Formats: sequence, C-alpha cells, structure tokens
Amino acid sequence: MVSKNGAVKEYADSPLYKAWLQYAPVDNLIIRNNYGRLLSQIVVDAELTGVVATAVEELLRGARSMLDVEPAIMTEIPKGSYLHIQIAKENAESGRKEGPRWKLERDAFTLRQIQALEGNRLELIGGSATGVLYGVFHLLRLISLELSPEGLEVEEYPSNPLRMMNQWDNADATIERGYAGNSIFYEGGRIVKDVSRVRDYARLLSSVGINGISINNVNVHDIETSFITEPFLPDVARLADLFRAYGITLFLSINFAAPITIGGLDTADPLDDKVHVWWENTVSRIYDYIPDFGGFLVKADSEHRPGPFAYGRDHADGANMLADALERHGGLVIWRCFVYNCMQDWRDRSTDRARAAYEHFKPLDGRFRDNVILQIKNGPMDFQVREPVSPLFGAMKETNQIIEFQITQEYTGQQHHLCYLIPQWKRALDFDTHAAGAGSKVKKIVEGSLFEMKYSGIAAISNIGDDENWTGHPLAQANLYGYGRLTWNSDLTSEEIAEEWTRMTFGNDKTVVSTVLQMLMDSWPIYENYTAPLGVGWMVTPHYHYGPDVDGYEYSRWGTYHFADRNGMGVDRTTATGTGYAAQYFPPQSEIYESLERCPDELLLFFHHVPYNHRLQSGKTVIQHIYDTHFLGAEQADRLQQKWEALLGKVDTGRYQQVADRLAEQAEHAKYWRDVINTYFYRKSGITDEQGRTIY
Ligand code: GCU
Repeated sequence: MVSKNGAVKEYADSPLYKAWLQYAPVDNLIIRNNYGRLLSQIVVDAELTGVVATAVEELLRGARSMLDVEPAIMTEIPKGSYLHIQIAKENAESGRKEGPRWKLERDAFTLRQIQALEGNRLELIGGSATGVLYGVFHLLRLISLELSPEGLEVEEYPSNPLRMMNQWDNADATIERGYAGNSIFYEGGRIVKDVSRVRDYARLLSSVGINGISINNVNVHDIETSFITEPFLPDVARLADLFRAYGITLFLSINFAAPITIGGLDTADPLDDKVHVWWENTVSRIYDYIPDFGGFLVKADSEHRPGPFAYGRDHADGANMLADALERHGGLVIWRCFVYNCMQDWRDRSTDRARAAYEHFKPLDGRFRDNVILQIKNGPMDFQVREPVSPLFGAMKETNQIIEFQITQEYTGQQHHLCYLIPQWKRALDFDTHAAGAGSKVKKIVEGSLFEMKYSGIAAISNIGDDENWTGHPLAQANLYGYGRLTWNSDLTSEEIAEEWTRMTFGNDKTVVSTVLQMLMDSWPIYENYTAPLGVGWMVTPHYHYGPDVDGYEYSRWGTYHFADRNGMGVDRTTATGTGYAAQYFPPQSEIYESLERCPDELLLFFHHVPYNHRLQSGKTVIQHIYDTHFLGAEQADRLQQKWEALLGKVDTGRYQQVADRLAEQAEHAKYWRDVINTYFYRKSGITDEQGRTIY
C-alpha cells in the first residue's frame, strides 16, 4: 500500500483528488482579466495568522491557478485596482456578539465591487476571521463559475449555526459504513502522523462552510474510548490545531461507560458523585490540550452501546451529567436520539420502531441543560431511500436540536450507484411540521428561528475515505459539496447546488454541465424506482445493506418489516387500526398520514397495509406500480450510462472511466434489483403484469 504521505503527493494534481477545488484556468478572458486586476494587489487589514492566514493562502492558490496572477499582499492602500480584506469592527453596545445567533454574524461576510476612477476595488468584510475565510471561498467560487465581478454585491451568512460533519472512522483505519477506502485519520490504532490528507479534507469542508467535526465513530470501541485521555490527547490536539485554522471546531464521540472501562470505577451512573468527578477531571484535561474543544457526541442506550438506562436513569440524566462537566469550558453535548429496541421479536406487533425516538425523548422536553443538543435522524427509521420526517421535529419546543443526514450512501447504493441526495434532504428541511401553525418547517426549527434555541443546526455522516477521489464514486462528491452548501444556505435549490458543483468540478462546458446536472437530478428517483417501493424500505441484504433481499429483515430483531403476504403489504401505522405512529405528528400531517386516501403515494406503505390491487392516487394499483417503477428504473439506469458516454472526450480520462465503470455496475445491478423485487411480488400476489413483461 502506498503510504498516505506518498499518496497525497501522488494525488495532488489529480482532478479526482482536487474535487470541486480544481481552480482551473478561467477561459473567459474578460472575466479573467477583471478578476486578475482586482486580485493582483490584496490589502489585508488583519493579522496574517490563524484563519486569516489560511484564507490568504487559499486566495493565492486560487489566483495563481485560475487567473495566472501573483498577488502582492500589502497593508497600505495601493494605486490601481485591488482587493481589500477587513474584519468588521465589533459593536460592543449593540451586543451583536451576545445571544444564540452570534455565530451567524461571525461567519457572515459581504463582498462588493466599488468602481472608481483610479481603479476598481473589491471589498471583502468578514464578521470575523472565519467570515473572511468563507468570503474568500465564495469569491473563488464566483471566479470558477466565471461570474463577472461587475456590480458584485453579496451579503451572506449561514442559515445554520452548527454545521457539523460526523466521521464514523475507527482507530484501526476502518470506517463504519464507509465506501471510499480506509480512514484518512487513523492508521494502526493511532492518529496518522502525516496529516496532509486531513488538511486537504479540512479545505474541502471549510470551502462549503462546515464548522464542526467529530473525528471518531459514534460506536466507540476500545482504543477510541481512550481518545479523551493523555496518551492520545497530544495527537487529538494536533488535529484540533489543523481544523482550527479552517474555522472548524473538533468534537469527539465518547463511550458512556468510559468511567468503568478506562477510569477504574465500578459504575458509570450519571447521578453518582465519583462519576461526576471523573468526567470533570477528564474534561479539564482535554481543555488543557484543546482550549476550544467542541464537546462530545454521544450514542447511548442505542444498539447495545452503554448509557444511563443501566442505572435506571434517563437520557436527560446522562446528557446533563456530561453537560455539567463541559459547561465551564464552553463545551457542548450532542446526544443522539437514535434509540429503539433492536432486540424486537418480529411476532410482536405492538412494538413499532418508528415510534421509539419520540417516545423516549418527547417526555424529556425542557429537562436538558442549555449546552445539550439532541441530534435527530431525518427520519424515524434509518436513512432509507424514502421515509417521512421524524415527528420529533417540532415536538420538543424547549430543547436544542440538530437534524442528522447520512452523506455516506449506506442504503442508497453505497457510492456504487449514483444517488444525489440533496433533493432528499431538502424535502426533510422543507417539511411543514405545523408545530406552531402552518409554515413551521423543519428548516426553521433547526435554524433556530421557530423556537428559541441556544444551539441548533445540521449534522451528517461523511462519505469520504482514502480513495484518490475521496468518495468512491466521483459523482458522490456532489453529496459532500451539496451537504455543506445546503447547510450554509437552506434556501438554495438542489439544481443550483448541482450546477455549482458540476461547473466547479468539470468546468463550464455547456454540454457537460447540462448532462451531469440532469444525471444528478434524476438519480434519487431512479434509485427509488428500482429498489424498495412506496416508502416501505429495508429490502436489503442484512448487515451489508447493499443489494436486494426482500425478506432479509422480515423475521429479524431490528423492527424493520414489510408484512407482505399473498393479499397485500405495508405497515399499518394508523391510530385506527395500527401502531398509532401517525398520531405523533401535528395535525393536519397526522390526519393526512392516517388517511388512506390522503397519504402521499410515496409513503403509502410506510403508513398503511394495503391489498396489492389498492389504487394509488396516481391511478395505478400498488402491484402495477411496483412492476412499472422497477422496469422503468432499470431502463433509466441504462440511460444514465448512455448519457455519460456522450461525454467521452469532454471529461478527462481518469474521471470519465471511473464514472463509466460505476454506471455500468449500477445498470447491471438495477436489473438484478428489478428482477428480484418483481419476481418476489409476482410470486406472492399471483397478479400478472398488465404489460406482460418478463417476470421470473
Ligand atoms: C445504522 C448503521 C450503523 C450505525 C447506526 C447509527 O444503523 O447501520 O452502522 O451505527 O446507524 O446511526 O448509530
């Protein structure tokens, strides 16, 4: 294996590796000259250290590569055109830096072009050093999109205060649910010595506005349990230093039972004094090494991870205990709500996994400390291709919360299939919970504008590894890019994000841009077409979660069933005759989901058990819908391949070939999905396809 050090050097000039930070020379001469003049002289009204130094370094890199200029960095206003970088003065009286939304203003920036006889100037003012950095990345984006600086007038600040990345990386270099090679963070049980690849990752992240990262898997195994102790802290601090320079705060996932496993105590009871003292000392030590440490991400009492239940305590007791230890230092506890009974008996029809998070957490509303944030998966199950939004959003008005998305494509084709996920996430963010009347969208809740929340935002599980192209499938980079952009500005459309990404990644050729944009936009519906239908989910190979296995999870302990028999299928989650899950929503959503007539087709089988000949709102029967979407989906996967083939010669060979290989695999695999699903339901139902196509 090439060492990571060697690997980075080897990759540095590879278009696969550079992802969306290609900084390709600008073709349009007018635009190139205009920016070239403005960036040839750069006045920096701030100390050239830390994040500002990072910003200037990035600017130099971009200017040299895209504009072929060598900027002069200066402190005095020069003659001619120039770029002026400043940090906004703090207004002590207005208290702008107080209160929950201070982070937004710190990260804000304005970018304006000012015309003058002596020469034009570009003015970049950041709310703080990180605002400057985000402004620089914005400017570099405008240049690579070849948008003229003429009349430029931009004011930007992030929608979400916390914009988190969760790594599910383990110390042995494996990545849980990773589909792009090994970890870039760890090697042989330790943090890597050569962090150049991690630095390049930090660049990618900060270029799209990410400001927090937890660097180890939420399932905290033996070695990682000790990350919070001295043998590891110097190394963790090295990473914290690196990320700090990019405006990114470092967090760690912790093991709730650490007081026992590494502390020598006989209990981890959150109400035990010894346990308190142990966490306080441990936390103090962390802050000795990392003064701006972000805090802990915690998976507790979930899928066999230890937690407060063992001591008869609840999640608030557990989270608050850690919060108390962190509070003095300004640290946060991010407590995950992915809590359910994973030892269910499939014969037990009274338990419904979808209900679990709400049932566990809703009664605790108001009991969490100010520095506790609940991290709630977008849906009530587990990142399926289609799920309703978790009913916890809006249900807890007095609790800080962030939504959790999964960039890594565990259930959406594992980066072998193309599946652009921004439209899926936008649906979740745009869902109207009606928690405080119409217009109570999830995005307002997680932005912190609907209810008074001290901390809120978005988190997601990363899709990167040490593959040269970071994400396995080169086009899966769009999900990483898009996650950041959407989190920065939740009002951007999926198309806008896809177009930006495509142009930054592949250049501004019209055919390439329109083809890739279309492929991305079509990809989630295509994937849904040939996989699990109508919101039912879970028809995947157990454990690996790749490829079809309709009954793989049917008689298992995971609470993930479709209940197909010869008459019909789906999970009855109504209040009238089912598990009552639908009632966890606010009206009118609860009524819509409860109603067989009004429930949206795409979620029908999530909420209702229906006969195969039940007619959907689309006018088709359920069984015919299954056949039609599966035949269509497999055809569409073929067409994706053909669309890409038309770009032969327009995209460099390395990227062209990698994408072509993945699309070929997807097209083949889509046919397999089609045939397994269609055959299964044909055999169950005995109903033939109206169009008489081949079913086995
Ligand atoms: C999924 C995934 C696990 C992961 C878990 C979690 O169930 O398959 O690997 O640990 O989510 O979010 O904690």
